[in-house]
Order: sequence, then structure tokens, then C-alpha cells
Amino acid sequence: MQIIESIGEARSIIKRLKNQNKTIGFVPTMGALHEGHLSLIKKSKKENDNTIVSIFVNPLQFGPNEDFKKYPRTLEIDTKLAKEAGADIVFTPSADEIITDNPLTYVDINELSDNLCGAKRPGHFRGVCTIVSKLFNIIMPDSAYFGKKDIQQFYIIKKMTNDLNFDIRIVPCPIIREKDGLAMSSRNNYLTVKERNDALILSKALKKGVKLFESKETFSEIIIKELKEFIKTVKNADIDYVKIVDENMKNVKIINRGNILALAVYIGKTRLIDNHIFGEKVCF
Ligand code: PAJ
Repeated sequence: MQIIESIGEARSIIKRLKNQNKTIGFVPTMGALHEGHLSLIKKSKKENDNTIVSIFVNPLQFGPNEDFKKYPRTLEIDTKLAKEAGADIVFTPSADEIITDNPLTYVDINELSDNLCGAKRPGHFRGVCTIVSKLFNIIMPDSAYFGKKDIQQFYIIKKMTNDLNFDIRIVPCPIIREKDGLAMSSRNNYLTVKERNDALILSKALKKGVKLFESKETFSEIIIKELKEFIKTVKNADIDYVKIVDENMKNVKIINRGNILALAVYIGKTRLIDNHIFGEKVCF
């Protein structure tokens, strides 16, 4: 497995692969890799001749009071894990390498970013879309793999790819969870033992939401109210949002299969997100 830091080197290797008609799968990450990331790499490995993983903690997608500085950076372990999962290349540019001096161009997306995390984290998806576009232009993959853990991000990247005519297949991948239901996340590293236990309220709330829906409750207002009360039973939990939306990230009144129950909850100082698509298999 090769570790590449420069855009020039990445481009020349990719050019060679393309000349050999090799397909390229791409898994963009911010590192601190866990089984969630590794599942994307494994899927890409299965479906492509070559798999490229990027590791870049993208400053453009963090707000001024967010955790950019303390975000876990574990490059050495990450490269080992990426290799074991089947990556052929890890692309890990520095900020100076990938963010040009005084950039004046950004990629932004309307509407899909108005709700959920987009509403709570202004500028976040502009940062995500900008960096992912830049990475797409460098890597030029055939397929790119995104986790449904960040469900709004997945729909945004899919729409952006279509709107900007990137010739890339955007592949959704299931949420990978710990045995007890907690969705894997690099931010779980911040949790104390007590908070780790409190964090289970997110997946438990999703489970409760699914049960209510299965018992024929279809009014989102009622489910949301119940879930908020349920989450509040954990003293350390502070709700950022509990919403039920469609694929356009619009709130729905009456729930249908395919609609998404999405949560963002602070456990202590750590903001965690999780979601479930109604009608999909429950894996928690
Ligand atoms: P990051 O949070 O590192 O996640 C990288 C990819 O792993 C995303 O597609 C995310 O949805 C997926 N992922 C994370 N946890 C997962 C889990 N438990 N199960 C399945 N997939 C999971 O998302 C980003 O980085 C950035 O925004 C990025 C796209 C790299 C742009 O900077």
C-alpha cells in the first residue's frame, strides 16, 4: 500500500491506473478509522481494481467553536488499518497541499442543507461539498463510498455529483454499530465511560421510534414528542434535534417507509448523530 501526500504524485499514479483501464473506488475520510470506515474500504475493495482512501481533517467543514483542533489524528494506526482492510493507496495531503492560497471558490448546495445538521452547523456542508469536489477532481474515481451514518451528507453528495456532472457512482453503505447499538464514530473517542453508556440513548430512541411506527403510529409530531421525552430521561443528554424527514431533507407530517428518523444529541460536550430509515432492517 502506498501513502501519498502530494496531489502531483496522486495524479500521476491515477493516470497510470486509468491507462491500464483499472477501476478506482474512493473512500474519503477524516481518519481515526473504525469498523464503519473499514466497511466502506472493504466494499470498495470488492467492487474495484484499486481502492484509494483519503485521510484529511478538513478545516472547511468545522465551525469556529467546533472540535477541529481536538479531532483525533491517528495517522499511523489508520494507515495500518486501511491496508488490512484492502486499501491500495492512502492519500493524506496537508492543508497547505489541498487548500490553495486565498481560495475564492466554494461548492455549496441549496435546500438539502437547510435542515438537520446543515441548519445546526452553518457552512458545514459547504465545507464538505468543497473538499469532496476537490478530492473527486484529483482522484477521479469510478465509485465513491459514503456511510448512511451521515445520511444528510450522503444525499447531499449524491445530488452534488449529479448537479456537477461528476462521472462517479455514489455508493451508500450501511451504518456499522457497536454490539450494544452505539453507531461507530470517531467522536466516540471523546466519551468518558459514563458518557459512553449515556450515548446508548440515541440508538435506543431510534429503536423506540421504529416500534411506534410499526405499531401504526404515523404522525411524526407524536413520535418526535415521545422520543424527546425519552432522550431527556438521560440527565447528561442535550437534544440538538429530533426530526423525521424525506429524501429531500424536508420535515414530514405523516411518516412513510423511506422517511428518515434523524437525531443529534449532545452527550456532555460531545455531539453525536444517528438515524434510521423507516422500513429498513433494524440492526440495533
Ligand atoms: P468521516 O466522519 O471520517 O467519515 C468518513 C465516511 O465514513 C463517511 O462516509 C461516513 O458516513 C462513514 N462512516 C462513519 N461512521 C460510520 C459508521 N458507523 N457506519 C458506516 N459508515 C460510517 O464524513 C466525513 O468523514 C467527511 O465529511 C468527509 C466526507 C471525509 C469530507 O471531509
